[in-house]
Amino acid sequence: MKSKHAQVHFNENGIPIADHFDDVYFSNDSGINETQHVFIKGNDLHQRWALWEKPHFTIAETGFGTGLNFLVAMHEFKQFRQANPHHPLKRLFFITTEKYPLPKADIERALSTFPSLQAETEALIALYPIGLDGCHRLHFTAFDTTLDLWIGDVHQLLGQWHSPEEGLVDAWFLDGFAPSKNPDMWTDALFSQMARLSKNDTTFGTFTAAGIVKRGLANVGFVINKRAGFGRKRDMLTGYFQLTSASENENSNIETAVRCSPGSSPESELQPSPQSLPKATQKKHSQKLRLPEGPYYRYNNAPLTEEHHVVVVGSGLAAATMCLALTKRDIRVTLCFDGDSLAQGASGNPQGGFYPQLHSEASIASRLQAHCFLYARDYYDSVNSNIHLQTSTKIITKTSIEVNEQEPTKEENKYDFCGVIQLRFNDKVGVRQAKLVNDDVWPSALIRHVDSDEVRRIAGVDLPYEGLFIPKGGWLSPPQLVSDIIDLAKATGKLTLKPNHCYVSHTSDGNVEFTHGKSIKADHVVLALGAGAVGTDAFDSLPLRPVRGQVEAIASQQPIDALKTVLCHKGYMTPAMEGRHALGSTYVKNDLAVEPREDESEQNLATHEQALADTDMVSQLKHDGTARAATRLGSPDHQPVVGALHNFKTLKQEYADLGVGKPFQQVSTLPQSNVSTLSCLGSRGLTTAPLLAEVLASTLLREPLPLNNDLLNAVNTSRFMVREAVRGEF
Ligand SMILES: Cc1cc2nc3c(=O)[nH]c(=O)nc-3n(C[C@H](O)[C@H](O)[C@H](O)COP(=O)(O)OP(=O)(O)OC[C@H]3O[C@@H](n4cnc5c(N)ncnc54)[C@H](O)[C@@H]3O)c2cc1C
Ligand SMILES: C[S@@+](CC[C@H](N)C(=O)[O-])C[C@H]1O[C@@H](n2cnc3c(N)ncnc32)[C@H](O)[C@@H]1O
Repeated sequence: MKSKHAQVHFNENGIPIADHFDDVYFSNDSGINETQHVFIKGNDLHQRWALWEKPHFTIAETGFGTGLNFLVAMHEFKQFRQANPHHPLKRLFFITTEKYPLPKADIERALSTFPSLQAETEALIALYPIGLDGCHRLHFTAFDTTLDLWIGDVHQLLGQWHSPEEGLVDAWFLDGFAPSKNPDMWTDALFSQMARLSKNDTTFGTFTAAGIVKRGLANVGFVINKRAGFGRKRDMLTGYFQLTSASENENSNIETAVRCSPGSSPESELQPSPQSLPKATQKKHSQKLRLPEGPYYRYNNAPLTEEHHVVVVGSGLAAATMCLALTKRDIRVTLCFDGDSLAQGASGNPQGGFYPQLHSEASIASRLQAHCFLYARDYYDSVNSNIHLQTSTKIITKTSIEVNEQEPTKEENKYDFCGVIQLRFNDKVGVRQAKLVNDDVWPSALIRHVDSDEVRRIAGVDLPYEGLFIPKGGWLSPPQLVSDIIDLAKATGKLTLKPNHCYVSHTSDGNVEFTHGKSIKADHVVLALGAGAVGTDAFDSLPLRPVRGQVEAIASQQPIDALKTVLCHKGYMTPAMEGRHALGSTYVKNDLAVEPREDESEQNLATHEQALADTDMVSQLKHDGTARAATRLGSPDHQPVVGALHNFKTLKQEYADLGVGKPFQQVSTLPQSNVSTLSCLGSRGLTTAPLLAEVLASTLLREPLPLNNDLLNAVNTSRFMVREAVRGEF
């Protein structure tokens, strides 16, 4: 999970050279001109963009390196947008892989030789991610560009990219060190994946004209052209993908060019059917097929466009992040909610802790938390700086990107990325924490061990414990955040708010019914009802787990008024906001009541007294009855639920065969649905809402998805039905 950084040195021209591959990252002659020649012109991007009729264009690259190709493409796209402000093509997606990310300082040094790309370079450096395997989605709003930087080996990653039926990629930048220096990359497996992800007429450009590349690409269905190479290179290759040419070519690896069924990998497509296998292997085979690759719902109906109207129902973090994700893509949204004001449910607590829940191993749950957390941090930085720009007040962000000269007072601040310490408050926790440190799965920029001296220094209070420190974490005020996100969505001119609209049901043609006979027509509906989903017909096939929770707002006094970081143990305590600290929280299953309770206040205090028993501050913890209770909505596997809502009961017969070993790829994909949900954020909504809203918006617009297939499956609405089917419980 923690990536290996590249080791580089710089030659006399200031060009970085990879020690491991003994090859240059870009041409000694001129990096920018090489990119223009091989990749921009090699893919005829200017001509293709001018004729493009869809709202987004997707470039995929192998080998991100210094990011030079990306910066040039982003620069060109901005110029295209400026010259053609009313053109239907509005957004660029650049998806790229990198096995050995360069350290930020090396990237900065390498790119410093390109003053014409200064603005692009600064934007990249500001957002450059930590070295963690998986997808980092980074938004370059000023350039109308989104970068999905996938850290890891291209061979492992491309198979994890979901492709819609028509393909995912419009142009390939086939980079990587020379085939002679990096033969492991230039393989048939890579070319097969390129074919799987390409659309009919998808183009490619590559600096090499090596025979192995020419033959490999031709074999999977690319039509190859030779062009004059750049600089000292005589030839290079360009070409385009033709879906039919591969099937006509006897030598072609056509199976891999066929689009994967949703959620499956090409490997599983090529597996023989279990019936053709000997009995002993049949069982193993069907077990393998039961791994999470199955008929998980992937949106394959027509993409939403700015002609469409979406109704989002809810008023918490899920609904707000959904509104912003859609409106910034020019989709018209009406937000309906049951009360007079926003964030009256779980998102109404004055303060919430912001951190990922990480285990020692890179489990699906931990990877999801880590990537959601990193995305959310960038997202909140962007919300906070944009909202302050919008209201023309002083920017008070304290981010790694933007350090304000004037230190904000705590009263002004409704968030603080002051870090989170998970205290080692008993031996059992100590063993768990030691395992996490020893297993060394996570980069220290995400989570690291701190001794008791460092705990004291970071926390500002006397705590005789070691712990784990999450430097990018902190606390936020969810209602303030919801309000800010909604303000930003409103500023697009695409959002209408409808308070006092309590959702009752919807019809298959998109009529959404509310109480008191109100109704609104929509092309798509997103239900983000939090615990309001319990008992709603639309959710009757999903196993929902409501859990009541109460959090105290205790008055700040010595010594806890000095607390400078969020403390986590069995509960959590935040630094003060407006003179009070959040002290939480209780868990009462299946309890939908939301009045504060005296016994739960006592319980919250007791949790802290137990965990902080060895401290002076424990005697100063007192509550005065100021508390708030709400219901978290969770799911049986504790993961969020994102995607289409179906009436799975009516679909059961179709999937019943999974229980008797029918291969996943042979069952039909789930039908279209015009209703989706973002739900079950449990007790980590601050961490997960932004990325999952982005996943849903990208799904509905048929853009690249910023999560590996296994993570997409782990949050998919259909996973419960699939598991039941596989267990033969239909
Ligand atoms: C005590 C407690 C402490 C927590 N602490 C933290 C923390 O420290 N960190 C963290 O990350 N998370 C925390 N959480 C979890 C976090 O608050 C939730 O994950 C998140 O707020 C869920 O957001 P949501 O939008 O899905 O649901 P909600 O915020 O509950 O929003 C759902 C909204 O839907 C509306 N609605 C419901 N039914 C209808 C209907 N029929 N029609 C119209 N509108 C409807 C409601 O008004 C409600 O506002 C905590 C939760 C609780 C309860
Ligand atoms: C020539 S450099 C790319 C230059 C880059 N496009 C740029 O603009 O700076 C090749 C890159 O491919 C990466 N790479 C090599 N093998 C890889 C693999 N198997 N998977 C992913 N990346 C790989 C290298 O680490 C290196 O960063």
